[in-house]
Amino acid sequence: MNFDEIIDRRGSHSSKWDLMEPLFGVPAADGLAMWTADSDYPTADCVRDAVRQAAETGIFGYFGNYGDYHDAIIWWMRQRHGWQVDADWILTAHGLGNAIALCIDTWTAPGDGVVIFPPVYHEFATKIRNAGRKVTECPLAREGDRYRLDLVDAQKRLTGTERLLIWCSPQNPSGRIWTAEELRAVADFAIRNDLVLVSDEVHHDLVYAGEKFVPMDLAATDARHRLVTLTAASKTFNIAGQRTGNLIIADAGLRAAMKARLKALDLNPNGLGVAMVTAAYSAAGAAWVDAQIAHLDRNRRLFDDGVNAIPGVRSLPLQSTYLAWVDFSGTGMAFDEFDARVRQVAKIAASPGPGFGTGGESFLRFNLATPRARVAEAVERLQAAFADLQ
Ligand SMILES: Cc1ncc(COP(=O)(O)O)c(C=O)c1O
Repeated sequence: MNFDEIIDRRGSHSSKWDLMEPLFGVPAADGLAMWTADSDYPTADCVRDAVRQAAETGIFGYFGNYGDYHDAIIWWMRQRHGWQVDADWILTAHGLGNAIALCIDTWTAPGDGVVIFPPVYHEFATKIRNAGRKVTECPLAREGDRYRLDLVDAQKRLTGTERLLIWCSPQNPSGRIWTAEELRAVADFAIRNDLVLVSDEVHHDLVYAGEKFVPMDLAATDARHRLVTLTAASKTFNIAGQRTGNLIIADAGLRAAMKARLKALDLNPNGLGVAMVTAAYSAAGAAWVDAQIAHLDRNRRLFDDGVNAIPGVRSLPLQSTYLAWVDFSGTGMAFDEFDARVRQVAKIAASPGPGFGTGGESFLRFNLATPRARVAEAVERLQAAFADLQ
């Protein structure tokens, strides 16, 4: 478990590193890629062994029999999240981006509204718009370093066209972990407004010591008749390129609708992805995740201490995820100015806050799932880029 080995990912078909120059103008030669949410260290040995074993066999024919895959998911959800899932509830998509798009496709029609709570994972809004649906933004309220729900305001923003609500828990980009009471309130909001509730829980494993993640299904069991939970090992184990994620649906009617959609589109799981997740969701995988969290905890402390020393810049304290959400509003600079300094002077590609919707205008998001030396380098570059503020 070496999270500190520097591996050069340039030229490896990594979107994070190989698209940094075309998308951000940050030079490939000496830029730092801190945008898209994957990690710069290898996955757990148990996952690598599963791939080696598959390569040894050398036969990559059609996949069938999901028994051990489902058993592994059931074991993981019970062990790590105290959540009892039935094998029947699990449907598999090509990653959670695909799962989100499938939910929009299955439970809304063109022109319908879909509720999101920005600032939130930019792809929610992108996928809603790409599908010809409308985004209904119900912004989170900011209180100092924390975000909170404002469901009174949210209710006023509904237009009557909404059919679906996409919720992010833990929250990307702020790393916020929602309490059972908050989750209950979101479920009640969905019930009150007759919305299908999609709870995207992809970041649920990367939770810092002392924090407690609660699955929506546990917080609001009586909302199961409208709940779809999305989970994947993609972030936790750095296997996002294998495009494997799950829709966990207890309600038979919702499940039948999604199954029909998967069948109509002939979407079948990727066999290698399934093998990797099966190997990941194990005792060895769990030990690797614990070690990774300890590494990320050191990284976030180093990053926050360094960045918060720059006058007017504030990295919000994370409860979960490796995604630091940094507010530049105290510098008095407009987005284009601080963004240009980060790209052109610090030569860092970070995710632009405005893409996360209302509330993201003064932010950049930095991915800390990288060796510690790269975080230290990023801090030095950022301090130098804003040295005139010292
Ligand atoms: C909240 C959230 N949902 C979904 C995804 C996409 O997941 P996948 O790689 O499985 O498509 C991401 C990736 O960053 C994410 O942060």
